[in-house]
Amino acid sequence: MTVMTPDQLTKQVLAAYAGTPDPRLRQLLTSLIGHLHAFAVETRLTRQEWLAGVDFLTATGQKCDDERQEFILLSDVLGFSSLVDLINAADGATESTVLGPFYVPGAPVRAMGEQLGRPEDGSPTLVRGRVTDPAGEPLDGASLDVWQSSSNGLYDTQDPQQPPFNLRGVFVTGPDGLYQFRTVRPASYPVPTDGPVGDLLRGAGRHNWRAAHIHAIVSAPGHRPVTTHIFDAENPYLDSDTVFGVKDSLVRPFRPAGPGDPPDVSYVTEMDFSLAAQDDG
Ligand code: BEZ
Ligand code: FE
Repeated sequence: MTVMTPDQLTKQVLAAYAGTPDPRLRQLLTSLIGHLHAFAVETRLTRQEWLAGVDFLTATGQKCDDERQEFILLSDVLGFSSLVDLINAADGATESTVLGPFYVPGAPVRAMGEQLGRPEDGSPTLVRGRVTDPAGEPLDGASLDVWQSSSNGLYDTQDPQQPPFNLRGVFVTGPDGLYQFRTVRPASYPVPTDGPVGDLLRGAGRHNWRAAHIHAIVSAPGHRPVTTHIFDAENPYLDSDTVFGVKDSLVRPFRPAGPGDPPDVSYVTEMDFSLAAQDDG
């Protein structure tokens, strides 16, 4: 009597999916099955470990609701979200990074230069720059949808003390592509650890802090939108951001305001954004 080997079983499973009619789905399933089986073989996964994995994924799903997406958080802390971003980056465009769970569509369109937060949200900061194409041509009608947490580390959606759309706004450029807005210097904040992803981070001995950042979705007619951050160069978590979102090109100094800067701000940071044309890759 011959005994089935792992390799024979993997081949049998792959053959069962080889007739998947949609070619892309067939490619994805074939690769997924191959890597999943190789993982079990390579680690000699035990039954108890397999069951612990099933329990973990079940708990991850059970933690999800309309406001909480534990699976995306899992993808984030495993660096998978950032990997998918890297693979899909457009040449010459500003690097993208994670969207995160705190984006709220429909933020108010604000006048150029307007203040996003309240005095108690943190140190007043001017953010300015230009939106261009990869050749440096300014983009007219580009939109910056920006959001960030307050200095207590909470977004408006997590903090009943903050009014709706606090520290959120949309700014639209003119023909010079220039933008500016007033906000507060961002603070580091912890990602939620009251679910299975928290157990994972604790089990791995990792902290749960995000490097301080301002979020932006930058878009313009005929161009590929970029979802990205501006990171504070002085933040201690740049090298260990819990969701692997930091890219060197997104880190900016927040310099103390000086003569020639608006008198109502304490810090100034500058960030240009570049968007690739819709058809380029
Ligand atoms: C955020 O930056 O808002 C974020 C990103 C990933 C996970 C948690 C929060
Ligand atoms: Fe964030």
